[in-house]
Formats: sequence, structure tokens, C-alpha cells
Amino acid sequence: MLYSPQRYLVTSALPYANGPLHIGHLAGAYLPADIYVRFLRLMGKDVVWVCGSDEHGAAITIKAIKEKRSPQDIIDQYHDLFKVAFEKMGIDFDIYHRTSSEIHHETSQEFFRKLHEKGEFEVKESEQYYDAQAKQFLADRYIKGTCPKCNHDAAYGDQCENCGSTLSPTELIEPTSTLSGSTPELKKTTHWYLPLDKYEAWLKEWINTGHLDGEQVHDPSEWKNHVLGQCKSWLEGGLHPRSMTRDLDWGIDVPREIEGSEGKKLYVWMDAPIGYISATKQWAIDNKKDWEPYWKDENTALVHFIGKDNIVFHCLIFPAILKAHGDYILPKNVPANQFVNLEGDKISTSRNWAVWVNEYVKDLPGKEDELRYHMIKNMPEQRDSEFTWQGFQDSVNNELVNNLANFINRVIVLTHKYYDGVVPAFDENEVFISPTSEDYDGFHETEMLQLHDDLQEVNEYIRNYDFRAALTQVMKISSQGNQLLQHNEPWKQIKVEPETVKTVMNMALQVVASLSVIIYPFMPFASAKMRNLLALSELKGDGELEALMMNLAEGEMAIPTGHKINEPIHLFSRIDDKVIADQKAKLENSKKVDEAAVEAALAVTAASAKSVSAKEETTEKPTIEYGDFVKMDIKVATITHAEAVPKTDKLLKLQLDVAGEERIVVSGIAEHYKPEEIIGRQVSLLANLAPRKLRGVMSQGMILMAEDSDGKLSFVAPDVAVSSGSTIS
Ligand code: MF3
Ligand code: ZN
Repeated sequence: MLYSPQRYLVTSALPYANGPLHIGHLAGAYLPADIYVRFLRLMGKDVVWVCGSDEHGAAITIKAIKEKRSPQDIIDQYHDLFKVAFEKMGIDFDIYHRTSSEIHHETSQEFFRKLHEKGEFEVKESEQYYDAQAKQFLADRYIKGTCPKCNHDAAYGDQCENCGSTLSPTELIEPTSTLSGSTPELKKTTHWYLPLDKYEAWLKEWINTGHLDGEQVHDPSEWKNHVLGQCKSWLEGGLHPRSMTRDLDWGIDVPREIEGSEGKKLYVWMDAPIGYISATKQWAIDNKKDWEPYWKDENTALVHFIGKDNIVFHCLIFPAILKAHGDYILPKNVPANQFVNLEGDKISTSRNWAVWVNEYVKDLPGKEDELRYHMIKNMPEQRDSEFTWQGFQDSVNNELVNNLANFINRVIVLTHKYYDGVVPAFDENEVFISPTSEDYDGFHETEMLQLHDDLQEVNEYIRNYDFRAALTQVMKISSQGNQLLQHNEPWKQIKVEPETVKTVMNMALQVVASLSVIIYPFMPFASAKMRNLLALSELKGDGELEALMMNLAEGEMAIPTGHKINEPIHLFSRIDDKVIADQKAKLENSKKVDEAAVEAALAVTAASAKSVSAKEETTEKPTIEYGDFVKMDIKVATITHAEAVPKTDKLLKLQLDVAGEERIVVSGIAEHYKPEEIIGRQVSLLANLAPRKLRGVMSQGMILMAEDSDGKLSFVAPDVAVSSGSTIS
């Protein structure tokens, strides 16, 4: 039996304000929460749903440095973008807050202060990487190097994205600072650690049994398997003290009255989840409410909606922080979702492989519910799922248009045609074919009860966080409505059995009216249109489903006899092939733009060790051994043919002769040389660079270029002609 409290505090992961929102985010933490919250409100529950932008952390600083902008500038840009995207998609938080706000800074500092005063932290000195050139300690993410486990040469200080290993920066082979490109040095620094090892025992018990201090506070059988699985594997691996402070200049200050706090900021994963609390406080101020019951009363259910990469933070670390504080409740559930893949590939911001929400709402305006529908249908609830544009078109055309919109439209049109738009009476003496009640007994009550049971099924799926199944059940109600018409054929029977048709149409209208309520959590825009169509009051999320279900259970109608409805309008329209083709082309194109950017960067890197540096000057590279140098096979090559690569300004496709062997190399020099003027030139070729595909052309090596301080490129070549294929060493 699912426990059903009256008060809920629902959170959605605060997105990092360093890149726009894509459909994977939407399906991960925002759509499911929106469904859940809308549903709870329809059931008369007291709910506050908070979210906001996560505006601290290394990712934001790195982006600021790369783009030579201030962090403030970046977070403002994305915070505004997020707000628009959410609003357009009907993601209707009670508050969309931000962690750069004053109330958040204060709240997180209070938290830190409290933990500090209670002696919950361990203060420890350790050695951490320091970039002497940038004069900064380096957050794990700022350090790159070779992975000790798989030899991948671009692993981060906290993780290797190639093999997935969790790393510590000191494990990296040949670490470099991504700030300056220099080799960082180890330097002593002091930090405040949360001794997670000491919380391991109660965390284990709390996760596995739902017991906390001898009380049952949640039911683990309600938690998703993959969430419990991840928690258990972390717990089995053993928890370690985790530093809650960082040496950074962007973030929340460690309260300055604490000794040694100079230059120290809160770890972003300490401050961000506290953002849920500060957002609730701000909401309470704005609405003249009290925030505390939502966070401190045991009768409140705290539910965190997140993506799977946030599980450890929400199931172990944040609960540990809350418990260490002492005044707060812990989450009742953390229904994390897995990831959405796009057209067979991982969604990637850096590779621009994504469907961006802000672009979707511009490209397909008025089709927000369609995207919601398709994303819910493919929500990665238990495992990763897949978005394809073809699948999207099929969902809309075959299900929303052919099933849902078609059914509703038929009912509305026929009601106008036969009864001038007035709901006809249900006559219990008339016998019709019911697709739902097998033992038709002619009683209206039985039919209403059946509708109630159908809604009850949706209800249970939602409470169980099974939104896919809930949506399937909603569509089943609509299909049954279609069958009701199909079996009884009112368009034929109207001449023969007009009284039966009244009863059938009354029934069909009851289904439409019930659908207008139950689709509200999934497709709020369509629901509003339907309510308007039926001339029923707009849903406010004020117990309407609860009331409807109570009425149906008692055999009462969802829409009364004699009620006059409005003229038909189209709820959903077909998506043309052209729209889908355009979206697919856009996606393919973004891939090419991305490859061109990579190549342009490569051409430059070849000449000037330009890394992600805040500085203009060429950064010095670390000393290497002769052995490193001889790994490179550099040869003199002769350009035999050159042509522009279509649809780019930067790239030339070069055909080279290397001692009689032909090589194709794509090079980012088109802004510096015309194809015809370089035929016959001798150049230096890095011949054993791993081949890679650029704009569909396999590039087999790289031409070395010199770059002067103005960015002008020139070839590096022998000063007299030599035979092609000569080695450079
Ligand atoms: N910004 C984080 C991410 O995008 C999520 C933060 S959730 C919070 O992965 F709990 F910290 F707020
Ligand atoms: Zn690795």
C-alpha cells in the first residue's frame, strides 16, 4: 500500500547555468516532476515544487575563462534561457530560483556555520595541485592528464570519461592545468571535510530498510532498483571523508569568521542542494507562507527528481548534510531517471549532439505537448532510452492525432450535429455495446465506476513514478472511447435507434470529460483546450481529479446532461515529413560545424600550444624527453591537389604526395591560402597522427603550421626543395 501524505516538497535538479537545456534534461528531472506535481495537486495535495539555476562550480568558471567573459555574464545568460525554455514547455515550478541570490548565499553559509559549530567537520591539511601561472589551486575538473587505468590522454582529475573510472587528480599521469596549460605543482592547503565514513552505518540502514533512528521514514520497495543499486555499490565501496570546501574565487564564501576561511569557497555540491531550501524560503516570502513545515515536518514527503549522474549526491551526501544539521527531514524517494540517447548516439553538449529545448520551441511552436508526450512515452525510467525524430513523428501522427484528437473531435462534432452541442441524457433502458464492462447491465453507474477504475489505474502508476505506464493507460482510455463509437456506430444508428445513440454519446462525452482532467499532468496545454471545448472550468490543480473520481465512484457524471459545449477545434495536427527532415538535417549539420571547429582548433594547436588559456601569449609546454619527440613521424610532403571543403570557410582538402604515396589531409588553412596557389608547395606533415573524419573526409595526418601573434598561418617547410617523404627530425 502506497503511503500518501498530504504535504509534499518536490525538487528538480538545479541545472548548471553553463549550457542550454536539451531534451535529455527535460525527460530526466523536469517533465517527471511536472507530471507528479500536477497530479498531486489534482488530488488535492499541498505541494511546493522548487528548482533554479546552479550557478557555481568549476564548469561555469572554465567556460568563463574559455570565452573570456565573467561568470556572472554566463549565469545570467543561461538562467534567462532556462526560464524561457521551462515556461514554454509548461514546466511550472512554484519558483525558479538561482544560487547566486543573496538568500541562498546566506542559507548555505548558515548551514556551514551550524555544521562547523556542531563539530561535524574534520579540518585537514593536504597537498593539492596548484597552477603557479594562474595563481590558483585547481579544482579536480581543471586538471587533465592521462588516465592511469585506460591510458586515455584526456582524463579529468575527478573522472575518466573514456573508461568511467573515478579518479583523484594525483593519480593522473602527466597532469596539466586546463587554465594555463602548465604542469601544476603540489601545494599544501586546508579544507573542511564531511566524514562520510562515519555516516556509513546509518546511511546503509536508512537506504536499505527505510529506518532512521528506529523509525520507518521511507519504504525502500518504492525506490527504483537502479537507484538502490547505485547507492548500494557506493556504500559497499566504502565512503570517505569528502571535502566541503574549495580554493576558488567563484562561489559562496566559507563564513569569514571561521578561522582559515580566507580564499575558501563552499564545494558546489554542498551549496547546490541547499539551493532547494533557499528556493523554498524565497517562495514562502513571495507567497506569505511558512517554509519550515516543508522541510522540517515529518509528515512532509520530500521527493527529489534528478538524472542518474546525481544519485550519490541526493541519496548519500545531501542526506548526510541534512542529518548532520539535525533539523531537517530526509528524502522519501529519489526517483532518478537514466539518460536519453539521440538518434543512436549519446547526447553531448560539447559535440552539439542534442535537441535544444529553446530551439525546439522556436522551430515547432505550439507543439510543446507533442514533445512532452513523446518524451514521457520514452522516459528513461528504468534504463536509457532513445529519441529519434522518426519516432517523434510516429507518436504524434499515429497516437495523438489518430487516437486522441480523432476520438475527441468525433464526439464534439457529433454532439453538435445531433444535439446542437448539448449533452444528451443517458437512458438506462437503452442497450449499447460497452468496450469496457464485459457484463453490461445497462446501469449508468456501472459505466461511471468503470471510468473511475480506469482513472485509478493512472493514479497508481503515477504515485509509483511509472509515468510511461500511466500515459499508456491514459491512451487506453481514449482508445476505449474510440471503440465505443466504432462498435455502436452512432452515425448509422442515429436514424434507427436515436435513443440508444443519445446514451452512447452521453457515455462518449463522459470519457472526453474524464480525459480532459487526466491528461492535465501530461499535456497541460491540450487539457486546457479540452476544458474550453467542453465549456468546463479551467483546471487549477485544486483537487479536481480527486473530486471527479469521488463522483464517478458514486455513479455521478463527469459532464452533466443538458450541459452545452463549445464548437470543435483541432487538438493536434499531423507533423509533416518536411519538418522531420529539416530537424534531422539540422542535427547532421551541427555535427559538421562541430567537426570544423575541432579541425580549426587542431590547425592552431599545431602551431602554438594554445590550450584553454585565459592569456593571449603562447603558453610554455612542459619539458619532454627525446623519446616523446621521436614518437612523431614528421615528413616532407608535396601538395598535389587542393580544394575547398563545401559549406565551410576554414577547411581545405589537400592531396599530398609522400614518397610516391598519396595522402588526404583536411586542414584549417582556407582563410590563409587559396587552393590554386599552394599546388606544388612542400609542407611538413605529421604523418602518424591517428586518422579522423572531418566533414565526411578521412584526414590522414596533419600539416604543421607556424602561427604569428596576429593569428596568421604559414607553412613550415624546408628552405630548399627536398624529395618528398624526407623525414624531419
Ligand atoms: N547542477 C547539477 C547538474 O546539473 C545538479 C545540481 S542538483 C542540486 O548535474 F541538488 F545540487 F541542486
Ligand atoms: Zn580511463
